[in-house]
Amino acid sequence: MTFCEYKPGLEGIPATQSSISYVDGQKGILEYRGINIEELAKSSNFLETSYLLIWGGLPTKDELLDFEHEIRYHRRLKYRIRDMMKCFPESGHPMDALQACAAALGLFYSRRALDDPAYIRAAVVRLLAKIPTMVAAFQLMRKGNDPVQPCDDLDYSANFLYMLNEREPDELAAHIFDVCLTLHAEHTINASTFSAMVTASTLTDPYAVVASAVGTLAGPLHGGANEEVITMLEEIGSVENVRSYLDDCLQRKAKIMGFGHRVYKVKDPRAIILQDLAEQLFEKFGRDDYYDIAVELEHAVEERLGHKGIYPNVDFYSGLVYRKLGIPTDLFTPVFAIARVAGWLAHWKEQLAENRIFRPTQIYTGTRNASYIPIEQRQSTHDRAFLAALIAE
Ligand code: CMC
Repeated sequence: MTFCEYKPGLEGIPATQSSISYVDGQKGILEYRGINIEELAKSSNFLETSYLLIWGGLPTKDELLDFEHEIRYHRRLKYRIRDMMKCFPESGHPMDALQACAAALGLFYSRRALDDPAYIRAAVVRLLAKIPTMVAAFQLMRKGNDPVQPCDDLDYSANFLYMLNEREPDELAAHIFDVCLTLHAEHTINASTFSAMVTASTLTDPYAVVASAVGTLAGPLHGGANEEVITMLEEIGSVENVRSYLDDCLQRKAKIMGFGHRVYKVKDPRAIILQDLAEQLFEKFGRDDYYDIAVELEHAVEERLGHKGIYPNVDFYSGLVYRKLGIPTDLFTPVFAIARVAGWLAHWKEQLAENRIFRPTQIYTGTRNASYIPIEQRQSTHDRAFLAALIAE
């Protein structure tokens, strides 16, 4: 095969076949295993949706009860993981802490029996169960407090908010948080999922697969955008400043955070649901000052960039929901990871079922047949002032 056209970012190039989720970016449709996201948001919950994604079908009542029970049982962290977290700097980003903890799980459960269904099941359960505990524990520890142990009486989402805020959450708040997890659980072959698949294709352990995906999700062009949206709304400061802020960004060719998507050319269906969830929360707990700025920005961006298919993506309204739930801004992306672990694990399983190691090709643009120059005759290719500044840093 001599297929040589290079597409930056692999845009439009199929890198796999998958039956996990489906996106129609022109019509704004997202389905998990064929079921529309609106329907799942309304009728399912995060653990049932995770089961659907990972095992390919909706569970029966007993299957779901067993799955929930196993996850409840495995929520606690080994004390050595907690001790390791105590050594992390408080100023470190929680995504870095999460990536380190996810990878560290592999030290405790290192048997790589990838052809054993019991091993696969245990890894799925442990990762889904422990990741929220890690996120909440890091939050409390960096404030100098002991982590709160998971509460067996609370379901998955209520338990996370309980471990994070040290009190039982309001019922509506816990329900809305659970819907947010469902919305973020899976989204075809995005950057972090691709990175999970590449790692999985080497037949390494599932903890390394998730750790590599967490690292990829952390970037501001991917999961990190939800955090940047709040920083941007903060910077804008008032509805009156929206248009001048936008003009300035467009002039500088800066990206407006929470807008645009490689696949969606209309408003992301998840953004529509998240906006509605934000409004439900505002009705019960009071309006967020940034909401009016966000709505005005959406109108202004639509006027200026709608013709390019630039509309709010999933990250635009999620931050406003999380703020109202009392989640600190730098935990928005870890919360995204709590949800997306379901999708990563589904792709891990799918990859294992028909594995071939990823090994794409490249188009070489460097020099050929260069001579080896003895060290005394070389001239530096680096700017010395730049290097001195780097060393001083
Ligand atoms: N603000 C202003 N212009 C934009 C934006 C934006 N947010 N996004 C795309 N464009 C313009 C871009 O300038 C380019 O214009 P032109 O053709 O005139 O040069 C055109 O739209 C295509 O942009 P691109 O960067 O080539 O598109 P991409 O498919 O490579 O990037 C994206 C997609 C999501 C990385 C990008 O839209 C972006 O950086 N958005 C802001 C960050 C963000 O919100 N990320 C979250 C993505 S959704 C959830 C997730 O993946 O985690």
